[in-house]
Amino acid sequence: MHYSRRKFITNSTSLLSLVAATNVIPNRSLANTFYGAADGIARLHWNENPYGPSKKAISSMIESTYEGAYYPDHLIGILKSMIAEKHDIETNQIAISSGSTQVLSNLSQIMARTNPILGMELGWDTHLLSAEASGGKVIRQPNGINLEINLDELELKAKKGVSAVSIVNPNNPTGTILNSKALIESVIRMSKTTLVIVDEAYNEITNNPDQNTMINLVKKGYNVAVSRTFSKIYGLAGQRIGYIISQPETIQSIIKNGTGHFSISLTGLAGAISSYNDQEFLNYSKSKIIETREMVNEAAALNGLSILPSQTNFVFVNIGDLNANEFRDQMKKHGILIQGQYGNFSHWSRVSMGKVEDIQRYIDALPRVLDTLRS
Ligand SMILES: Cc1ncc(COP(=O)(O)O)c(C=O)c1O
Repeated sequence: MHYSRRKFITNSTSLLSLVAATNVIPNRSLANTFYGAADGIARLHWNENPYGPSKKAISSMIESTYEGAYYPDHLIGILKSMIAEKHDIETNQIAISSGSTQVLSNLSQIMARTNPILGMELGWDTHLLSAEASGGKVIRQPNGINLEINLDELELKAKKGVSAVSIVNPNNPTGTILNSKALIESVIRMSKTTLVIVDEAYNEITNNPDQNTMINLVKKGYNVAVSRTFSKIYGLAGQRIGYIISQPETIQSIIKNGTGHFSISLTGLAGAISSYNDQEFLNYSKSKIIETREMVNEAAALNGLSILPSQTNFVFVNIGDLNANEFRDQMKKHGILIQGQYGNFSHWSRVSMGKVEDIQRYIDALPRVLDTLRS
């Protein structure tokens, strides 16, 4: 932590009295001193949306704190109804959770009790690690030559007695997306013998969200579970709200096993409800992500680096012979936080999209960092 406990308490008190006294949204720079990105630091390491939360979400969240004495069951009902309406599904096909991590981990732990879960070698895998930690077995499919998910190979392995297949689409840290037609066909085939879990944390940022989602397969009755989150395009990572859409019996099992009404905060729900259909904010955020992604793509090319085509709010940059941990450490010296090495993929570096000025800092530092590491 970059602040002392004493300073935190003092600042918290002044922030709270400001809200109480004026009943207005607190000054953002005051909030930044202990809740957000530290001054002078470009946070480009967690795939957050720094343009969030939306104004509507902020004002609902502040208002909701006055009702913080109460459990949030009615808000869970409202959010479920909104999600159900948007996707034309039933509310018993939805479980809301504390970030999508909670529900993905919970479901993976349940599934791994019987047979192994099949996932990718390179991909978001917190839920797979949690299944392993609770005694389950996970099989990891190697990625293809361009770090892609090879669906044919995945299907072959899926036939060998696995309880679930986990697919992240678009994938993290690669940022790449599967062909939607091929994925639909493959998921349908796999779902006849196993549960297919599709993590769609970045779906809203893709070029064609409706075409890329597998929610339609749930609607048609296939054994599929699709997770989504308010942590990315909605700019509510700190509020920890996510959800999963699946068949009612899968949802029942998830709720029975611990992802229920008692793990979700009222304030987070207030923010999620207020931003769920805030198309203006979502469009703005997406335009900023695309703008900054293009800046990074251009800068990478100018510096002789290649990238994977991203449909997310991060870019996986091939840094050639350099090491991703050393690259990350050098960037940190310029006040820029990015990710280091993933697994055995030492020459790939992930940078998240942030505010335009933060991405500009990354771009300005890039040639200097490359020079330092090459010298
Ligand atoms: C692909 C993917 N899934 C899930 C998550 C978890 O997000 P949250 O728990 O905030 O919903 C992340 C976070 O970065 C992610 O990249």
